Amino acid sequence: MTYIDQAALDELTQRALEAARNSYSRYSGFSVGAALRLSNGEIVTGTNVENVSYGLTICAERSALVSAVSQFGPGIRVEAVAIVNLNGAPSPPCGACRQVLAEFIVPDAPVTFPASDGARTMKFSELMPLAFEMKLK
Ligand code: THU
Repeated sequence: MTYIDQAALDELTQRALEAARNSYSRYSGFSVGAALRLSNGEIVTGTNVENVSYGLTICAERSALVSAVSQFGPGIRVEAVAIVNLNGAPSPPCGACRQVLAEFIVPDAPVTFPASDGARTMKFSELMPLAFEMKLK
């Protein structure tokens, strides 16, 4: 697997910031951006898109993932993730997004996100140690 250095994570964070500026978050006022670095070298971004029915809102991370599969197909592998928000608040990826990322991400991919004391980077496997999987007998 490609080693992801700090410069690559910084670039990813910058791309996430640009995506956050496109956020459609009129109900919460919370603008999130996510950027995924894929094993094919591409960077794909997403932002949160809210809905008046609230529950139909899609988070930035899932928005980026859906876009990545739409552009590059079902074989994508995510090697690194950056998440930002424009609100200066902590925002680790929600549980639903972790479960969805689990399907496409390499276990030791770095995930960088805003924490209470600044940007924090954790391995995906630390953030989501026991994702649901289905192994039928
Ligand atoms: N949100 C994300 O985009 N990512 C997360 O991991 C959690 C929450 C969005 C959804 C909603 O538009 C706003 O943040 C407030 O919950």
